[in-house]
Amino acid sequence: MRAYRLFAAAIVGVGVATMSTGVPAQDAPTGIVGLRQATMKTLGAHMGALKAILTDQTEMVDQVPMHARAIGDVAGHIPVLFPEGSTDPESDALPAIWEDKADFDSHAEKLSELVAALAETAEGGDVQASLAAFGQMGKEGCGGCHETYRKKDS
Ligand code: HEC
Repeated sequence: MRAYRLFAAAIVGVGVATMSTGVPAQDAPTGIVGLRQATMKTLGAHMGALKAILTDQTEMVDQVPMHARAIGDVAGHIPVLFPEGSTDPESDALPAIWEDKADFDSHAEKLSELVAALAETAEGGDVQASLAAFGQMGKEGCGGCHETYRKKDS
């Protein structure tokens, strides 16, 4: 019995140690704010991969549609990640989002369209054209929304 307890304690210890790896810093927001920030970070990661492909590993251009589709999938869920009143804890989301939620949501829709255009262009294998579509997607898709609805200097 004693041995069992020790064993169980060891397992719990390992579990806790595993959980603490990769978990956001202590004061990182939790709840819906934590979720949407973590989700936005995945978009940033896909953008990084796309840039690496289109400016360096261009022979892997066939992987562009995969990252583009992932961004498109996330874009479809952006509206529900910003429910009315989700300002606690305070984040980089500006109150303007809820003053015209339809306009905010339309920026997510715009991102979906631009990312679909990128996927389609990349299917054709043209790296230069894909790079241009990627740039437009980042500027108008991500930047277009951040410009109005996300706090600057963060
Ligand atoms: C419809 C609006 C909208 C679109 C489109 C959008 N974002 Fe965001 N993004 C936001 C808002 C608002 C925040 C701030 C969220 C918060 O702090 O609660 C944010 C935050 C972020 C963050 C910071 C997350 C953190 O750790 O705090 C990153 C990174 C990010 N976005 C990347 C992207 C990328 C890359 C794209 C395009 C592929 C994109 N976003 C498209 C609205 C948008």
